[in-house]
Amino acid sequence: MNCVQIELGDRSYEMQIGPSILKKMLGDVQGPAMFVVDDNVMPLLGNVISFGGEQTLMTMFASETNKTMGSVEKIWDAMLNAGHDRETTLVAIGGGIVGDVGGFAAATYMRGVELIQVPTTLLAMVDASIGGKTGVNTKRTRSNGSEIMGKNLAGAFWQPKKVIADIQMLQSLDARQLRCGIAECVKHAMLGNPVLLTFIESNAAAILNCELEVMEELVFQSASIKAKVVSRDEREGGERALLNLGHTFAHAMEPMPELDLLHGEAVSIGLVAAACCSEALGMVGVGFVDHMREVLTKLGLPSRMQTALPVSEFVSMMKLDKKNKGGQMRLVLPEGDCGAVITDGVDLETISLALRAVGAC
Ligand SMILES: NC(=O)c1ccc[n+]([C@@H]2O[C@H](COP(=O)([O-])OP(=O)(O)OC[C@H]3O[C@@H](n4cnc5c(N)ncnc54)[C@H](O)[C@@H]3O)[C@@H](O)[C@H]2O)c1
Repeated sequence: MNCVQIELGDRSYEMQIGPSILKKMLGDVQGPAMFVVDDNVMPLLGNVISFGGEQTLMTMFASETNKTMGSVEKIWDAMLNAGHDRETTLVAIGGGIVGDVGGFAAATYMRGVELIQVPTTLLAMVDASIGGKTGVNTKRTRSNGSEIMGKNLAGAFWQPKKVIADIQMLQSLDARQLRCGIAECVKHAMLGNPVLLTFIESNAAAILNCELEVMEELVFQSASIKAKVVSRDEREGGERALLNLGHTFAHAMEPMPELDLLHGEAVSIGLVAAACCSEALGMVGVGFVDHMREVLTKLGLPSRMQTALPVSEFVSMMKLDKKNKGGQMRLVLPEGDCGAVITDGVDLETISLALRAVGAC
């Protein structure tokens, strides 16, 4: 088993990573607990969890449209009805959606109860379960008057007391979902970790086959990068914003129903768009974007949108990004061979050019 330490003073915690570790690790959860389990994960658990008298189970259908305050309220209600108080531990078992919603319920129930994150997708293992960001989507109106969700616009920082990543869980993951997690690993590598980028490139086939040993190493290396960044900047006052590489573009693309993109797929296209900005601004060498596209394609990830939507649609979404300051667009852009910087005031022309390069019109 591998362990990653998230150093946050008196809120430090450990992430445990290994195959078939869930039963043993969850065995430590004694006393009152609220288990919020992803619908699709429930059948995989078998006899992994046994519910005692003080433990309550609720399952949740994981979808972005269900990542709402309504779902948080359902968890609060279930906890209240079962008589849970502040001594209860909420255990969120599932992908990033269950982790974010369950985490927000834990942050807010009776002003906060302990949380254990049990990520079951690659994306949740390397990203969503680490660092304490929890939250839900909110509704907003699109330029054509239709309703669209604003991604993660309400939430809280709430660190778990433990993260358990059972690599065996990845075996049942749909290939498309697996690739979404790989996109976040590529993002972590692009933040200044050429060793991880080489590992991903040279083990692409084994990763796509979800081979246990390679996956454990991938999760360990990738989660370690996120853990270090979070330890240095828990509340995203500075460096943590780097983890949003590709995400400003991705958050604008992901809610568009016409594009039919999962989060990781939008991140993949977002990484290319960010690279296009950097190339246009002379921050990376010529050929950087082509190399990015090549790596992502090898991993079965998209590097452009399949339906052309107007640039203005994306720009209006990007203006709402939480990183923006004083009305100025703030983007994370690749710099040099392998690295990224937070860049303020990128001009609209460069952003439009990048959006067109990934398929906008
Ligand atoms: N909090 C953060 O820091 C953070 C970081 C990155 C992403 N996120 C959020 O995470 C969400 C995406 O997470 P995700 O990619 O895990 O998606 P997800 O939670 O939707 O899970 C993807 C699908 O896989 C299913 N699933 C989960 N585990 C499975 C398993 N072991 N076997 C078979 N099926 C399984 C789920 O039911 C779902 O259908 C987004 O909402 C994103 O905003 C949060």
